Amino acid sequence: VRVAGLISGTSVDGIDVAIADIGDNSLAILGHATVPYAPPVRDAILAVSNRDTHTGAIARLNFLLGELFAEALQRTCERLSIPLASVELIGSHGQTIFHEGSPVEYLGRRVASTLQIAEPAVIAERTGIRVIADFRSADIAAGGKGAPLVPFVDYRLFRHGEIGRIALNIGGIANITVLLAGAEIDRVIAFDTGPGNMVMDGLTGSFDRDGALARRGRVDQALLERLLADPYYSLAPPKTAGREQYGAEFLKNFQAIELEDTVATAAELTVQTISRAVAGYMGIAEVIASGGGAHNGFLMERLRAVLPAAVKTSADYGIDVDAKEAIAFAILAYESFHGRPGNVPSATGARRAVVLGTASEPRP
Ligand SMILES: Nc1ncnc2c1ncn2[C@@H]1O[C@H](COP(=O)(O)OP(=O)(O)O)[C@@H](O)[C@H]1O
Ligand SMILES: [Mg+2]
Repeated sequence: VRVAGLISGTSVDGIDVAIADIGDNSLAILGHATVPYAPPVRDAILAVSNRDTHTGAIARLNFLLGELFAEALQRTCERLSIPLASVELIGSHGQTIFHEGSPVEYLGRRVASTLQIAEPAVIAERTGIRVIADFRSADIAAGGKGAPLVPFVDYRLFRHGEIGRIALNIGGIANITVLLAGAEIDRVIAFDTGPGNMVMDGLTGSFDRDGALARRGRVDQALLERLLADPYYSLAPPKTAGREQYGAEFLKNFQAIELEDTVATAAELTVQTISRAVAGYMGIAEVIASGGGAHNGFLMERLRAVLPAAVKTSADYGIDVDAKEAIAFAILAYESFHGRPGNVPSATGARRAVVLGTASEPRP
């Protein structure tokens, strides 16, 4: 089945599109692209992300992003010379604007919730292709945190009978999937380790290309120690982190230091929190990195220096580091399409494995 995966992550940098021919035991990736958001669109998304806002802004943005996601797929098909009509299924993660995977007290009840926007009915209508979207809600309904969902795909792509591996995605937030040698899917552990690029992005106002600033800067050890004292990093999984943890409030910690030193300290926070998370598991021979952070040469250098395993990238296994999450949602859509579960209860904390997503049917 030819499937397109669409996602925009917590970095809110753009829409990642990947197209693959997927079978029960096969995966042929045809190509991928990232279609960046125009700055006003990015600003509008951030303005409704975990903020007090007008419901009208959310509704409008939901439909606007539906258009943009459809266009991103159309443009990618053109660029790759893949006929849009040959795509049989779309898995669209959408754009998360709120995620509270752990229940909070609300109106006398305990409520966990999540919201991804980019209206699937619009994507289906514009493309004429069936869309599966809203992947996280079914897991939350089953008592899970709604995240992470990529571990199902990491298991499928990277599990090995004799080698222990960890898949590490460095997006806005960093997360790992632990694949012990020979382990079955019910033993997969996965969680957010803490910040990925988000703090560095916040400090620079864009991003630290190839880690050039961090490489020049000096780590403020006292500040680093203070940040590492956050109890989040020693919590047992499952656990998820989000924009809310590493936003404007968090950046205030970095006031009054030179920019390059702040970025060096933020980079080291990412490195140390990943390193602590990885250290919790024995017998890991390989760490397989993906996400935008894998382009940060300095970050990768530091990870190679501190991790007790060979640090590779998903590209070493044929999956471009920028395409992995989009491919993951293509594979999850493929599973849902076949009526099969896509969450990993040991990773999300759900009571059971459930079929993810809801379908928007194309015009007949
Ligand atoms: N060449 C590069 N050097 C350093 N960092 C980069 C580079 N390319 C991308 N990044 C980082 O990757 C981020 C985007 O990563 P991505 O995997 O798309 O995250 P998300 O899933 O949160 O959207 C950018 O915001 C930037 O911080
Ligand atoms: Mg992104």
